[in-house]
Amino acid sequence: MPTLERTEALPALKGVPLFAGLTPQQLRRVAEVGRVKLFRAGTAIVHLGEPGDTFYVILDGHALVVRETGRPLKLHTGDFFGELALIENAPRSADVIATDDVTALAIGHSAFKKLLRSEAAFTHAILKAVVGRLRNDQRTPRWQLDNLTR
Ligand code: CMP
Repeated sequence: MPTLERTEALPALKGVPLFAGLTPQQLRRVAEVGRVKLFRAGTAIVHLGEPGDTFYVILDGHALVVRETGRPLKLHTGDFFGELALIENAPRSADVIATDDVTALAIGHSAFKKLLRSEAAFTHAILKAVVGRLRNDQRTPRWQLDNLTR
């Protein structure tokens, strides 16, 4: 799995919504602590049930979150994944599979936790996305509501 030069990450990071609230100095810090990795189409980047020590931001490409229940979820350029295992210290909650070639910024566990503790804008963006995902998951399909009221 090739790792590209860190300097290549900075221009790509500028367009990532997760990093929108960071100052140029904070963004440089993220580029320093991260590694740019390439995953070929079809590769499982994280595996359900395995311990996780890395957080990923997709810089280019698409991936699919495949959970034990529920439909698979598409991730696009600018989306992130792998935060749950690191925040909870728990096994990975899903497989994440590259559906085409994916370039991702990989941030290790301790650097991720340091960012969460020190950069409020980063923490807020993660929290907002996780809450959005929760809200999405809680949306009850219409047919289930119909069953309850019958
Ligand atoms: P983690 O559990 O570390 O590894 C699998 C990842 O898939 C998980 O972190 C999230 O980033 C992502 N994921 C799991 N469940 C959902 C969900 N319901 N909605 C969006 N992303 C999810």
